Amino acid sequence: MGLIEKYLDLMPPEIQAIPKENIVTLGEGSTPLWRADRLKEYLNEKYGRFESDIYLKDEGKNYPTGSFKDRGMTTAVSYEKFLGRKAEICASTGNTLAAAATFCARAGIKLFGLLPDGKVALGKISQAFACGAEVIQVRGNFDEAFRIVKEIVAKNPDIGLLNSLNPNRMPGQMTGAYEICDKLGRAPTYHYIPVGNAGNITAYWWGYKKYIEIGKIQPFNRPAMRGYQAAGAAPIVLNRIVESPETVASAIRIGNPARWEDAKTARRESVGIIDSVTDEEILEAYALLPRLEQIFCEPASAASVAGLIKDVKMRRLYFDKSYIAVCVLTGHGLKDPVTAERVFTKNPIVVDAKFDAVMDVIKM
Ligand code: F0G
Repeated sequence: MGLIEKYLDLMPPEIQAIPKENIVTLGEGSTPLWRADRLKEYLNEKYGRFESDIYLKDEGKNYPTGSFKDRGMTTAVSYEKFLGRKAEICASTGNTLAAAATFCARAGIKLFGLLPDGKVALGKISQAFACGAEVIQVRGNFDEAFRIVKEIVAKNPDIGLLNSLNPNRMPGQMTGAYEICDKLGRAPTYHYIPVGNAGNITAYWWGYKKYIEIGKIQPFNRPAMRGYQAAGAAPIVLNRIVESPETVASAIRIGNPARWEDAKTARRESVGIIDSVTDEEILEAYALLPRLEQIFCEPASAASVAGLIKDVKMRRLYFDKSYIAVCVLTGHGLKDPVTAERVFTKNPIVVDAKFDAVMDVIKM
C-alpha cells in the first residue's frame, strides 16, 4: 500500500483531494525498524551504563530508490501530476534527484536536476540517468545550485520545485514518524537523524507533533530531536552559513539549509540538539553498522548513529532501561560504492585461478 493510502486520514486536504488516477506510488515507505541489540551491547561494553533499547529505521529499504526521499516524492509528485505540470526541477546532493527522477518518470513529467559537479555519489546519478532525467552538473556546491533553482522557479511558474521547500514533500516524509510510533506503540525518547537541508528533521518533528495532536502519543512522550550535521558542513551548529562545506558524507554537504529556521524550531520545541560529528566519527559508525547489525547504509546516514555514539561517549544523556533511542538510516550503502570500496576493500586478495592458490588463502 502506498503512503498516501496508508495514512490518508493524516494527509492535508489538498493531498486527500488528489484523484486516484493522479496518485504516483512505487512501493515507498513501510520500512523496517530493527532492534539493534548488538549495538546496544557494544555501547554498554565500551562505555558502560547503556541500558536503553536502540532501533534503526532502515530507510535504505525504501522503494523505488533506496532513500527516505521516496516518501516525500509520492505526495509531491502526485500533486504536481494532478496540477498537470509538465516539468519539475530540483537541486540535489543526489537522493532527491534519484527519487524525483523516478517518480517523475512514472508521472510522465520532465525532470531537471542540478547537482554539485563531482560531489554526488555514483549510484544516485546513475539512478537519475536511468530514468531519463535531465541532469545538469553545476561547477559549484549544492547551495549555489539551489539558489539557481529557486531563481528559475520564480521566473518560470510552469516549472515545479521538488526540493523540500515544496510543502507537499512534508506530509510524505512525516509518515516516517508515524511508522515509528505505530511500531513501538509510543514515541522514542531520543530521535537521532542526520541534518543536511533540514527537511527531514523538520518532517519527523511535525510527524511526532501530529501524533500528539491526535492523541496517538502522550505529550510527555515527546521525543528529543537529536540532529547531527557533518563537522565540515555544520551551519546550524555554527550559527552561520558555511561557504565551502566539505565532508565525506556528500548527501549532507550543505552550507545553507533551506529549512534552517524550521530545524531550529524543532530543536527548541523538542528540547533537542543540533550538533556535529566529524568525518572520522561518521565513518566509524558507517563501518560498525554492517558488522554489528548487518545494515549497509550510506555515509550521511551513519551520522545519526555517530551522534548517538558521541552522546554516549560524552555522557551527556541518560540511557535508562525504559528509554528508547531511534536512529534514522536515511539511504542505502550501495548508493555510494566509491566510499564503500575505499573504506571496506582495503587489501583486496587477488590470486591465480587455481585451487591451490585459493586454498593458500583459506588455510583450513
Ligand atoms: N541523509 C541522506 C542520505 C540524504 O540524502 C539527505 C539529504 C540527508 C540525510 C539530510 O536530509 O536534507 O532533509 O536534512 N539529501 C538531499 C538531497 C539534500 O538532495 O538528496 P535533509
